[in-house]
Amino acid sequence: MIGVFDSGFGGLTVLAALRQRLPQYDYVFLADSARAPYGARSFDVIHDFTLEAVEWLFNEGCTVVVLACNTASARALRTIQQNHLPAHRPDRRVLGVVRPSVEALAGLPPGALPGVSAPSLVEGTVAVLGTEGTIASDSYGIELRKLAPRLELIQQPCPLWAPLVEAGELDGPGTEWFLHRYLDPVLSGPRPPQRILLGCTHYPLLLPGIRRIVPAEIAIIPQGEVVAERFADWLVRHPDQEQRLGRGRLQRLATTDDPAWFAEHSGRIFGRPLQIERARLSPLG
Ligand code: DGL
Repeated sequence: MIGVFDSGFGGLTVLAALRQRLPQYDYVFLADSARAPYGARSFDVIHDFTLEAVEWLFNEGCTVVVLACNTASARALRTIQQNHLPAHRPDRRVLGVVRPSVEALAGLPPGALPGVSAPSLVEGTVAVLGTEGTIASDSYGIELRKLAPRLELIQQPCPLWAPLVEAGELDGPGTEWFLHRYLDPVLSGPRPPQRILLGCTHYPLLLPGIRRIVPAEIAIIPQGEVVAERFADWLVRHPDQEQRLGRGRLQRLATTDDPAWFAEHSGRIFGRPLQIERARLSPLG
C-alpha cells in the first residue's frame, strides 16, 4: 500500500490528488490529529512524531510512504531517509513534498537535475507560504538554490493559517484579516512573485479567499496535483517499488485522535462523510 501522512486533515488534499492521478493503487492515510499542528514544534519533536507515524504506516503494510506534510518533509525526511531506513527498513521508501514542489515552483520537469533551469523563469521571483517550521528550516531555499540558483525566493511563514483550517474557519472577516496579514508583505515588495506555492497541506482549503487577494496574473501552484504528478513519475523510474503496490483501489483513513471529530471536520470540508479509524502509534524505543 501507499502510505500518506499528515499532521492533520489537510493532507487529505494530497491524498485526493494522488487517488485522482493514480486510482489503481491501495492507500492508507494517517493524520496525527492528536498532536497537530506540528508547525511551531521543535526539530526533534517533529522528527520523532513523524517517525512514529511512518512506522505505524509500515506496520500496516505500506512499502512507500509520502510525507504529505511540508513541516514533516522539511524537518524529518532527510534523517529518516539517511539514518532510519538503511538501518531498519532497507526495502521501504519515504518521500517528501518539498523537492517535487520546488521543481514545480521553478518550472522544471519532474526529476530535474541541479543546474537544469527553466529558461522562462530563470531570473524571476517565486514565493512559498508555509508553517513556521517549514520556513525556518529553509528547505525550500536550499532545494531551489540547487535547481534554479538565479531565481529569487520569498519565504513567508503563515503561523495561524493551519490552526484556522483545523478550527473550520475557512472564510469570514477574521480569516480574511489573517489572509491579508501574511499575503500583503509578499505582494507589496519591490519584486512580486510570478508564482506562489501553498507549501502547507492545509492552505488549499483557504484557496478561495487567497485567490481573491492575489492578483490573477500570479499563478498559485496546487501542491497536491504537483506531488501526485511527480510521484507518478517516481513510480515509473522505480519499477521495483511500483510492482510491490496493491491494486485493489482500497482506501483506509486513520487518525490518532477521535475518529468522530475527524470525520465531522473533514467530511464538512470534503462534502461527504468519511469512515475513519483510530490509530495508536507506538512511542520510539
Ligand atoms: N500539514 C502541515 C504542513 O503541510 C501544516 C499543519 C501543521 O502545522 O501541522 O506543513
